[in-house]
Amino acid sequence: MSFTIAIDGPAASGKGTISKALAAHFGFAHLDTGLLYRAVGRRMLSGEVPLRAAQTLSARDLEGDDLRGPDVAQAASKVAAIPEVRTALVDFQRAFARRAGGAVLDGRDIGTVICPEAELKLYVTASDAVRAERRHAELQGRGLTVDYDQVLADLRERDARDSERAAAPLKPAGDAVVLDTSDLSIEDALAQAIAHADAAGAVRSG
Ligand code: C5P
Repeated sequence: MSFTIAIDGPAASGKGTISKALAAHFGFAHLDTGLLYRAVGRRMLSGEVPLRAAQTLSARDLEGDDLRGPDVAQAASKVAAIPEVRTALVDFQRAFARRAGGAVLDGRDIGTVICPEAELKLYVTASDAVRAERRHAELQGRGLTVDYDQVLADLRERDARDSERAAAPLKPAGDAVVLDTSDLSIEDALAQAIAHADAAGAVRSG
């Protein structure tokens, strides 16, 4: 039986952490859809045409630490504004969402475009300052030297591009539950997400 949890939200809102932990809690598969756009963005930075990259993505494209870096993030949000690139990635995401045993997908348009019929939709958000602090700490933890103000500016630039684009802009689905994690610990945010999933009828798989 399939059960889809769709999680959207801006960069560094906590949606990745919540998605992973929710999937582990219920024994569901997890897909970080941002990685697909990052993989296309990285190939664009190496000189490829974005659409061609999106049409020929393979599992190997999703490997490598640099996929998580700030340059690739900005490139990802540029290729993500190209409607044909998005279309090329739709079937894979929908098939993943409906796999037997349950799935959690996180991104920007999962509840609005990819899985409007998902059993649960969460929109995870947090203030700009909190998100920038989290991303700054994460990048420093990975050994990168970064300036907080630059991280904040990068996040805002990416949010603006993601929210203002015509194709599948970042926004909560009309029936999404909004979870603001600004003042929540990871444990509390996860507990709230699990409570919403329980209420939506999610059952442990496997
Ligand atoms: O989630 P992450 O920060 O890795 O996403 C990188 C970029 O990929 C986002 O800024 C956004 O432009 C794009 N993206 C998207 N739709 C998704 C997931 C990511 O447009 N479902």
